[in-house]
Amino acid sequence: MVIEQSLLVAQAYEQRVNVGFEYSVHFTRDVFDPGNITFVKAVSRREPERRHKLFVVVDGGVAAAWPQLSARIAAYCARHADHLALLAEPLVIPGGEDAKNSPELVERIQSEMRRLGVDRQSFCVGIGGGAVLDAVGYAAATTHRGVRLVRLPTTVLGQNDSGVGVKNGINAFGAKNFLGTFAPPFAVVNDAAFLETLPARDKRSGMAEAVKVALIRDASFFGWLEQNADALARFDADAMMPMIRRGAEIHMRHIATAGDPFECGSARPLDFGHWSAHRLESLSEHAVRHGEAVAIGMALDCRYAHTAGMLSANDLERIVRLLEQLGFRLYHPALAASVDEGRPALLQGLAEFREHLGGELTVTLLRGVGDAVEVHEIDEQLVLSALEWLRERDARPRATVLRHGGPQ
Ligand SMILES: NC(=O)c1ccc[n+]([C@@H]2O[C@H](COP(=O)([O-])OP(=O)(O)OC[C@H]3O[C@@H](n4cnc5c(N)ncnc54)[C@H](O)[C@@H]3O)[C@@H](O)[C@H]2O)c1
Ligand SMILES: [Zn+2]
Repeated sequence: MVIEQSLLVAQAYEQRVNVGFEYSVHFTRDVFDPGNITFVKAVSRREPERRHKLFVVVDGGVAAAWPQLSARIAAYCARHADHLALLAEPLVIPGGEDAKNSPELVERIQSEMRRLGVDRQSFCVGIGGGAVLDAVGYAAATTHRGVRLVRLPTTVLGQNDSGVGVKNGINAFGAKNFLGTFAPPFAVVNDAAFLETLPARDKRSGMAEAVKVALIRDASFFGWLEQNADALARFDADAMMPMIRRGAEIHMRHIATAGDPFECGSARPLDFGHWSAHRLESLSEHAVRHGEAVAIGMALDCRYAHTAGMLSANDLERIVRLLEQLGFRLYHPALAASVDEGRPALLQGLAEFREHLGGELTVTLLRGVGDAVEVHEIDEQLVLSALEWLRERDARPRATVLRHGGPQ
């Protein structure tokens, strides 16, 4: 057979594959109470007749706060043995950012899945904070090219933000979230009881992401946060739970409707306040929590937007005041670190952010509360003056800030 040469060089096939994702997000309390069928429903949603194999990984901080958890999970699975088959005792791994700073840990989770015969229809169940869930999600997504994942977020941040999203990953080569995948979970179960043992610092830290989605998407939610700031600062459950739900809803709606769930483009509205936050987390060697860093990052970008003529003094003051009322400190000494030739280390965050996006720098700023806009250039001098403003404001006695807190 003779093939015409021009055909060989000219042909191209346009391949198109559409993949739909669906996952359920449940809100409940005492998920492993034998009478609570939320978890059974979440796991057997697609195949109600089947007995589902479960491999469970638990955050060490959660295991310490809930010493009966493993026994309760075993009893729950025994009670619902028609639907659930627990493959082994839950694997307990270190909680917090340590979980994301160790590639060996991912390997350990994967090797356990190998040993236990976890297949693509089995479930990997992660119970823990955002960091543990990111690491477990990454291990699950890369085992058999994707094992079904059920997340049980146990922190405020996990329940209103990271746990209901589509991202996972670990830190590597000195960069935050350098390795990871986009992989939607099979289901998410938010259990309010877990939050009761969360340290105050982590309760507060998780609120930053709720403030973030309010600022970029929902001015009326921001107003609600302002009205409930005192109750939230006391971690009053009557305010915390609606905040978590609303934050989760806005986050989920954004993923489903904004047109870029796997963040292929450069626009990243959910990363508002994050370019400097990620840098600060690294600069402080993770002494600063993610949410604490995001609160500072948002304040920095709002002051920047104000000096750049985009955001009114009134809106800047509302935003900074809310963050302060919630108990956030809006400056950290690690931000003053210098690298080569006196160039502030913070600015390296812009370069890293650009690189992470792949090409064009896109930073989300605010024109007003609930009114986000993307910019592609950032004036470094203005960033530094915004940082100085935060430093000075932080140096003032707290009472003074609250009494005469107007922007200067
Ligand atoms: N994947 C995403 O889309 C996404 C989004 C935002 C943040 N994140 C990541 O989430 C991480 C931060 O997560 P976080 O704020 O949940 O904190 P975390 O996971 O670091 O947990 C904080 C501490 O609380 C402990 N803990 C967790 N639940 C507990 C409970 N119920 N009782 C007692 N102790 C408990 C942990 O052991 C840890 O020591 C960061 O690594 C951040 O990058 C991911
Ligand atoms: Zn975040």
